[in-house]
Amino acid sequence: MASVTFDKATRLYPGGDKPAVDALDLQIEDGEFLVLVGPSGCGKSTSLRMLAGLEDVNGGAIRIGDRDVTHLPPKDRDIAMVFQNYALYPHMTVADNMGFALKIAGEDKATIRRKVEDAAKMLDLTQYLDRKPKALSGGQRQRVAMGRAIVRKPQVFLMDEPLSNLDAKLRVSTRTQIAALQRDLGITTVYVTHDQVEAMTMGDRVAVLKDGLLQQVDTPRNMYDRPANLFVAGFIGSPAMNLVEVPIADGGVKFGETVVPVSREAITAAADAGDRTVTVGVRPEHFDIGTEGGLTITVNVVEELGADGYVYGRTDKADGGGQDIVVRVGGRNVPEKGSSLHVVPRAGEMHVFSTSTGARLSD
Ligand SMILES: Nc1ncnc2c1ncn2[C@@H]1O[C@H](COP(=O)(O)OP(=O)(O)OP(=O)(O)O)[C@@H](O)[C@H]1O
Ligand SMILES: [Mg+2]
Repeated sequence: MASVTFDKATRLYPGGDKPAVDALDLQIEDGEFLVLVGPSGCGKSTSLRMLAGLEDVNGGAIRIGDRDVTHLPPKDRDIAMVFQNYALYPHMTVADNMGFALKIAGEDKATIRRKVEDAAKMLDLTQYLDRKPKALSGGQRQRVAMGRAIVRKPQVFLMDEPLSNLDAKLRVSTRTQIAALQRDLGITTVYVTHDQVEAMTMGDRVAVLKDGLLQQVDTPRNMYDRPANLFVAGFIGSPAMNLVEVPIADGGVKFGETVVPVSREAITAAADAGDRTVTVGVRPEHFDIGTEGGLTITVNVVEELGADGYVYGRTDKADGGGQDIVVRVGGRNVPEKGSSLHVVPRAGEMHVFSTSTGARLSD
């Protein structure tokens, strides 16, 4: 087992004008489950493929443990990769699919059989070992692909959207299985997804990428509680954090009719950058709802989920007008569609970002 280090690793595709992955600095601990997440085209697969040796590295270095693997061919890196399309061999049985890499490596038949049976037990595939892939469900095929990686006992697992071919329900149960399996095996894992919920539920830590640039690496909890910039704030969390541009006032910011206190450091930093506004972030569960003050919103849609509900509203003209706001309310206390609400961020639950740079200003 081993740690993984991206040391200012850069990939510029031939003919490209800017790097697909730009000076990526990332240290993944031995045994850690790290999730790379971000929107389509941000460089997730490229980062993973650089680590796998399937993509040239044009700058910086990649290390597995203390080995510099930057220019090693894939077969010498001791990694196993699970892709989105599992690419099972259709004419081979499940057992042969799982044991194929071992056969190529020249292991003897009895050893291969034992390793395949061990992995099958872990993955609940024992009864399917003699079947062909076409006689399996999508979830079972996905587990065979996992099995193929597990039997090799690599130093590092790489997974690129391995669940995206599964339906929503199966995706949820399979992600729990993969996370549990990884914990049992203790093999360092880099997992790519564009789904922030998957990232937050599976990762020991999560790395958010945008346009080839690393935005933040943190535990899911810290990522949610303390997003480093406006992009992460808007990307992590569902429904998304409300982001509202507000004027700076004496001692705080003017949130509708209410001045909400903000740390002096945050205000000073904004003023130093020449800004007259800041952008505040408030999660849907962090509003106090009242009959006066704050922002006035008109309720457009109410989503009742039983235990709680989400109110989708829009600010009135007096408050700038036309800004969408989402507020979580208790399930027994749901406002009527068309009614007016006053919302104020709960004390200490507001995030402050620079409107001009997007950087986090509050601590
Ligand atoms: N072989 C290639 N040649 C040139 N450009 C490429 C190549 N592969 C990817 N790119 C570009 O590099 C950028 C990053 O691509 P990448 O596949 O890493 O994104 P991703 O984050 O995995 O996206 P998705 O979520 O859609 O899979 C994109 O702008 C893409 O168009
Ligand atoms: Mg991809």
